[in-house]
Amino acid sequence: MVELFVCKICGEPYLGGKAPDDCPFCGAPKNYIKSVEEFTELWKTELSEQEKSDMQETLDLEINATAYYLDVVKTNEKYSKPNRLFKQLARVEQEHAEMAVKFLGIELPEFKGETSKGSFEKDLERTKELETEAIKKYQGFLKNAISKNLKNFYTALIHAEKGHQDIAGKELE
Ligand SMILES: [Fe+2]
Ligand SMILES: [Fe+2]
Repeated sequence: MVELFVCKICGEPYLGGKAPDDCPFCGAPKNYIKSVEEFTELWKTELSEQEKSDMQETLDLEINATAYYLDVVKTNEKYSKPNRLFKQLARVEQEHAEMAVKFLGIELPEFKGETSKGSFEKDLERTKELETEAIKKYQGFLKNAISKNLKNFYTALIHAEKGHQDIAGKELE
């Protein structure tokens, strides 16, 4: 039987027999995927000056990652494995950027950033670097976070980016 779930991090709905292991939209772990009644908007929270500056940095990282992964999608044949992998990575990073702008109460900026490094292997290497950098940053932002909402946000993002780091590493083996 199909049930309606909602991700408590990004707020996206999901229909399925059971909750997915990771949110297909933002990559949050299963413990954040709940019944639709349990959702409250994570971003409806006051940010301290430190939290604001961390969120701006988060947005910058997510915008660059989205732009980069979208460029990799374009440089790989449609429906090929690299094209599919980077399409999903770009989707998740875009969802992260969309959440960051909601926290900041600003408009979504244009997706501008780096471009493909020229081969699947090089792009996987760069992906690993970017994701490692993001994890490190978000671990610091998690420590700075005062509000519970922000703590949940960075906990979910760290989980998602670790998944990206893992899959890029696995593809490189
Ligand atoms: Fe989500
Ligand atoms: Fe991200």
